[in-house]
Amino acid sequence: MSNLEDHRIMNGLAPAPWPGPAAGSSMAESAEQARAQDRVPAGFAWHDDYVLGHGTMDETHHEFVACVHTLLTTEDPNLGIALEAFAEHARRHFGDEDAAMRETAYGSAGCHIEEHAAVLRSLDEVRALLAEGRTEVVRSFARALVDWFPEHVRVMDQSLARWLVQRQLGASPVVIRRRLPIAA
Ligand SMILES: [Fe+2]
Ligand SMILES: [Fe+2]
Repeated sequence: MSNLEDHRIMNGLAPAPWPGPAAGSSMAESAEQARAQDRVPAGFAWHDDYVLGHGTMDETHHEFVACVHTLLTTEDPNLGIALEAFAEHARRHFGDEDAAMRETAYGSAGCHIEEHAAVLRSLDEVRALLAEGRTEVVRSFARALVDWFPEHVRVMDQSLARWLVQRQLGASPVVIRRRLPIAA
């Protein structure tokens, strides 16, 4: 597996940076990328900015964050199980959203469905590489998901949630976030 192939795998995830050295990158860049690859996984925590006000979608997104957190933090011997858990989650998560878009003739379905499909294509390639013992590819994939998720939720999932709630209730979703403490 060449670095170029590594890079190609993650191209399906937009905007997903690939921390591995790309063909043609400088030595300094490669060293920096190598350090990024070696860094201790920091995990992935839920943030209230991800709340959409659509119960099922919010619940599913909590699950997504938990699955990716596990991919980042579990020990190498557990990565196979963690990746399969993520795969099961991703198929259900994206499948449910895709079905909701199709069933309600959602106008912006095309790029949203394609973005889900791109993640699943990357996932299939990462699974194949893990079968060759490439655990670092799974960590890089998980970091790419951490970068990808907030923008996907903010733009695509939020629009879908609004559409679905408006169809159900004839109103926009109500989002209640925790208040930040304000110093007197
Ligand atoms: Fe989603
Ligand atoms: Fe989505």
